[in-house]
Amino acid sequence: MSSPAESSNLMEALVSLAKRRGFIYQSSEIYGGLNGFFDYGPLGVELKRNIRDCWWRDMVQRRDDIVGIETSIIMHPKVWEASGHVAGFTDPLVDCKASKQRYRADQLFFAPVVVDGKTIGYVSALENEKTTEDLQTAADSLKRKKAVQGALEPVKPRDFTEATEAEIPLIPSPATGEPGSLTAPRSFNMMFQTNVGAMSDASSVAYLRPETAQGMFVDFKNVVDTNRVKLPFGIAQIGKSFRNEITPRNFIFRSREFEQMEMEYFIHPDADWLACHEEWLKWCQDWLKSIGLPESHLSLHEHPKEKLAFYSRRTVDIMFKYPFGVQELWGIAARSDYDLQQHQKFSGVPQTYFDEAAKARVVPHVIEPAVGVDRIFLAVLAAAYAVEDVKDEKGNVEQRTVLRLSPRLAPCKVAVLPLLKNKEQLTGRAKALYTKLRKRYAVQYDDGGAIGKRYRRQDEAGTPWCVTIDFDTIEKPGDTFTLRERDSMQQRRITEAELFQLLEEYVY
Ligand code: GAP
Repeated sequence: MSSPAESSNLMEALVSLAKRRGFIYQSSEIYGGLNGFFDYGPLGVELKRNIRDCWWRDMVQRRDDIVGIETSIIMHPKVWEASGHVAGFTDPLVDCKASKQRYRADQLFFAPVVVDGKTIGYVSALENEKTTEDLQTAADSLKRKKAVQGALEPVKPRDFTEATEAEIPLIPSPATGEPGSLTAPRSFNMMFQTNVGAMSDASSVAYLRPETAQGMFVDFKNVVDTNRVKLPFGIAQIGKSFRNEITPRNFIFRSREFEQMEMEYFIHPDADWLACHEEWLKWCQDWLKSIGLPESHLSLHEHPKEKLAFYSRRTVDIMFKYPFGVQELWGIAARSDYDLQQHQKFSGVPQTYFDEAAKARVVPHVIEPAVGVDRIFLAVLAAAYAVEDVKDEKGNVEQRTVLRLSPRLAPCKVAVLPLLKNKEQLTGRAKALYTKLRKRYAVQYDDGGAIGKRYRRQDEAGTPWCVTIDFDTIEKPGDTFTLRERDSMQQRRITEAELFQLLEEYVY
């Protein structure tokens, strides 16, 4: 277990590396940034693309039962009425009238401060990995401030959705520390609204999609009618989603514009949905491990029956141990036939599949694995990041920062380094190798600075291999290069054919 201080240091180090090396920037930074929006820089865009490509290859191209689609971000507004988002895609919002701050009620915690069985006031704190400790400390200082004698009881935190009408005026705002300014929670719809066309009236209102999933449901009939798909089969999509989150936080973990990779797996209504749900749960965990996330950081959270979305028969989240705590990475939901039934009802178009065996039309049920690309990105970065002591060529101990990214995900697969910049024979051979490699792989050519420095630069970018073109390459028979491995830092000689073999094996 890492301490809260270590965790926040790790998060700071990740944010700083992400900026310094061009993985992630704050959106519109020169204007002060826009909360909940991010840009991906040159290394980040490659890493993100590799996450998407790996998923697409494994989920769609390497399977016979899943097809891909890409649907529009703005859909007919009726879609969101049918799906239930217009009425119910809300979070409980609390305003602080004094500071104008807004909070999600379920992330704002409070507790009565009880001394010798008597409540002397209330304390509040925003959810974090040590909320209870924060509340206890605040309770202790309130007791001292009020100079009350007696035994302080341990705090019993509740979230603001549980506050009674009588308690709300007594709970201090986290912004001002004073009671009396927090409003009762109200429902806040998280969909971004826009207008389609020249008119800005009620008839032109549309929404930026808050999930990609509805695209698959709305195109279900199109896919069935134009492809030779047979139940069970899946429709997958990768694309941007938008949610006007009340409190975007933890860097790219919870943002307002993010990318989802979702797959709707349609099964016969009589199929064993629980077994299918278990299969997808396993598939998703195996996939996360295959891209390098350590098993020790993964866990499962079964949604309790009373907290399930009303259409869900079962939802299990794959959780990841982020530096700021264990949080949801991937949700796997058994959505029954809710969505297709709703679209059938709202559109008047049957959303059915012809069951040849029974000679009857059925509305399939759905198992849905839904994950955010940005959440995988952050998990991958956190798991790959390490700072370690190493010895330089002279035996001096120095620190290196390394990203131990899986070769499938690494933004650059190989860096080609001529030992010297001004030796034509070395640079010529290096450029020939670089040109050949880059036809198939993302590679870099780097001839700037001492070789040790160049290795460190690549370590920080997560490049799994460096090849150095040195004097042995040009003077000795065999045309071999020095291959330097990122993780072990070991070096060995390798031929061009062996290098391509290595890449073929690890970059797939
Ligand atoms: N179609 C179902 C659906 O959208 P969800 O649990 O709301 O379910 C699925 O979202 C996944 O999308 C989450 O598990 C998470 O990985 C990602 N996600 C959701 N909200 C996000 C946000 N504000 N920022 C980044 N990723 C988010």
